[in-house]
Amino acid sequence: MQAATRVGLLIGSSRTGGNGAGLAVWLRQLLEDRLNAPGAAHPVELVPVDPRVAPHPLGPVVDGARLPSQVPDAAGYGAPGVRAWSRLAAGCAGLAVLSPEYNGGYPGELKNALDHLYREWAAKPVLLVTYGGGGGLRCQAQLRGVLEALRMRVVPEPVGIRLPAAYTGGSERVSPAPAHGFPGFLEPYVGAVHGGADRLREMLLEKPAGSQWCAASRRIAARMLTADMACSDARRCIPIALYSGHMHASRLLASSSTAQYTDCQDSTKA
Ligand SMILES: Cc1cc2nc3c(=O)[nH]c(=O)nc-3n(C[C@H](O)[C@H](O)[C@H](O)COP(=O)(O)O)c2cc1C
Repeated sequence: MQAATRVGLLIGSSRTGGNGAGLAVWLRQLLEDRLNAPGAAHPVELVPVDPRVAPHPLGPVVDGARLPSQVPDAAGYGAPGVRAWSRLAAGCAGLAVLSPEYNGGYPGELKNALDHLYREWAAKPVLLVTYGGGGGLRCQAQLRGVLEALRMRVVPEPVGIRLPAAYTGGSERVSPAPAHGFPGFLEPYVGAVHGGADRLREMLLEKPAGSQWCAASRRIAARMLTADMACSDARRCIPIALYSGHMHASRLLASSSTAQYTDCQDSTKA
């Protein structure tokens, strides 16, 4: 039998008695059914990642001797917990991130989980599903920036679930084991989740490394770098790279001359 492609379902909330646990069950079922719909080329297995269960690295980033971006593989991490987290992430071909909005952002444990690793996330497709009183749109925007900095390929159409007031400020919650099905307010989002799953599946099958997208970005970055630019030039080029959608180019530029990039950022702020 064909081995299933694993997709991690990274749960952003660790709040007890919240909506996250119920929404995770709802989302997992929808994604798993859609990704394995008749005609799907490969079986897909959803792997829920609960922030309260190891190897999710709840807590501050450890293993400080080297930056995660300098660690080539799981064996390179000093702490066994981080090695296990690395193996779990590396074993997933893509991700779905389910996150609530907290005070205009996303929960700290989600950032910690992402920041513990680096290469493990690179080039993987990721679907964003956020929730909150306003659909979690502000945390969605922040998460997109972070995931792109990690060189992930974000599904262009995220899902933003607006929770009714009774589910935020009141006592109603999305139960992980509802006696009579999931609440009706979730029904209008089923189509968007299916659309996201379809796009995620397409992106799982794409090969980003060496693709035209990457090659074009690399060419632009190479042109910028070979021009042996002064700081002021780099400052002009980074927004151009960002503007033209070539995030990869700007990141290459930044990583190839980190000190220069840092100078630029600082002087821009001044
Ligand atoms: C600390 C905290 C801050 C919140 N801030 C926001 C917010 O800025 N915007 C919003 O739409 N909802 C906000 N909410 C409502 C949450 O999005 C909503 O309660 C959601 O269910 C939280 O996820 P959880 O239940 O899985 O923890 C906040 C909730 C909490 C607990």
